[in-house]
Amino acid sequence: MKIDLSFNAGQFDELQLREKNVIVIDVLRASSTIAVALNNGAREIIPVASIESAVKISGSLFGEVTLRGGERNGKTIEGFNLGNSPQEYSETAVKGKSIIYCTTNGSVAMAKSRYARTLAVGSFINLTATTDFIRNENKDFLLICAGTTNTIGNFSLEDAVCAGMMIQNLLKADSLEVELSDSAKAAHALSKSFGRSILKMLKTSEHGKYLIEIGFAEDLKICAQVDSVPVLPILIGTVIKLKKEEPSIEPA
Ligand code: MLT
Repeated sequence: MKIDLSFNAGQFDELQLREKNVIVIDVLRASSTIAVALNNGAREIIPVASIESAVKISGSLFGEVTLRGGERNGKTIEGFNLGNSPQEYSETAVKGKSIIYCTTNGSVAMAKSRYARTLAVGSFINLTATTDFIRNENKDFLLICAGTTNTIGNFSLEDAVCAGMMIQNLLKADSLEVELSDSAKAAHALSKSFGRSILKMLKTSEHGKYLIEIGFAEDLKICAQVDSVPVLPILIGTVIKLKKEEPSIEPA
């Protein structure tokens, strides 16, 4: 398999992602929040690229079973039920709900990937679930780092390090032939330097420092907990749900 990687999602036209196998990585915080929400019983996540789309879609669906979640500048969008802190997506808040989800970078990357052959959502908190999926698929994959608007180049250290640790997991897997693109090699090298202390890396990253500044320091601790939410959010049709374990086929 060949692993390619993009350090931000801005460069893609959605049709370029047709037939690609894609993992969207947005550690702070979209990928982490989606894993927490679905693990806490949310029915589905509907990623949208703009607030207008969120309002339009929820206009018809809004009500008991539909919530609007997401952020602008890391804070709850006016008129939305939830912001983008994983702490808000408790079982009480989200169980059984469809969540129309709009964030600055993560949901945009996911919405852009709706034509992909496969789309899964990866983070540190579901790292192994994500790499097990890639390994079992054993196909070429494109890792898309959602990036951050806190920097001119939109480069997100935390997304790149998370991608690099996924690559490290794949390289360790026995009997797996893995070829890396140059950008995948770069992310793997970064993870060797910054992967030893994930929370420290998050605290010194551009978006991590910003989230601390606006009162979300606890979110960094949650998003740093490797494999603390061992589930795999995947795109099914136009919504993101949990990948169900394939029922093991009992011997006849
Ligand atoms: C994003 O989509 O850029 C992030 O999730 C923003 C955030 O949650 O602070």
